[in-house]
Amino acid sequence: MTKLLINIDHVATLRNARRETFPDPFEAARSCLAGGADGIVFHLREDRRHIKDADVRRFADELDTKLDFELSLAPEIVGICCELSPQLATLVPERREEVTTEGGLDVLTQRKRLEQVIPRLYGSGVEEVALFVDPVDDQIRASAEVGANAIELHTGDYANAADPITRAAVLSDMVRAARLAHDLGLSVHAGHGLDVHNYPDFGRAVPHVSEVSIGFAIIARSLFIGLEQAVAEMRSVIEQHAHVL
Ligand code: PXP
Repeated sequence: MTKLLINIDHVATLRNARRETFPDPFEAARSCLAGGADGIVFHLREDRRHIKDADVRRFADELDTKLDFELSLAPEIVGICCELSPQLATLVPERREEVTTEGGLDVLTQRKRLEQVIPRLYGSGVEEVALFVDPVDDQIRASAEVGANAIELHTGDYANAADPITRAAVLSDMVRAARLAHDLGLSVHAGHGLDVHNYPDFGRAVPHVSEVSIGFAIIARSLFIGLEQAVAEMRSVIEQHAHVL
């Protein structure tokens, strides 16, 4: 069954908007786990706009679950990730002006830097290194070549597709990309923009997806039904719409 990891960045966004100490991302993480999440995701951005260093240290020290540390290739952030050595490190592109991560990493142009960073991450005790990539064959092949052991397929173009034809085309790219990644020995993760409405077609169509990372839709939904319940709802949609090989 595909695992559900919850990104809790937006709990910190809300806290920081009022420069308050609440809502606390750590407490949110505990509610997600109580609702059936298989792990917690956070992105320590260079500008610290949501998750802060103290949050990350507390997750690492006190949460007994899989942690997915999303990070850019910035030396400072790579250093913090190595110090904390989460089970999973997901490398993403990062631009200060963006509202959220806008697309996959360009593994081809970043190859040299990735070849330096990935062995450092493994050397510090990180078990899995995933590269967040678009469903493009060359990017997937390059991900295997630079030593990642997983990719996270960027599902944003699928979630935001303007019409059913575009959506079907992106979905078929993702099916092909997931098969290629699996054949190359990479684990397949996926995320960005997934929710209870768009997950069913994705879940049924795309093979080999071992985990999904979902944040915004679940945090938004939690305002109305609570965080535990929002996680449980997503979990149940994932269970009901699994790909059958
Ligand atoms: N995966 C990655 C690599 C991301 O950058 C994000 C957004 O922070 C997500 C998954 C989750 O996306 P969303 O918040 O749209 O569910």
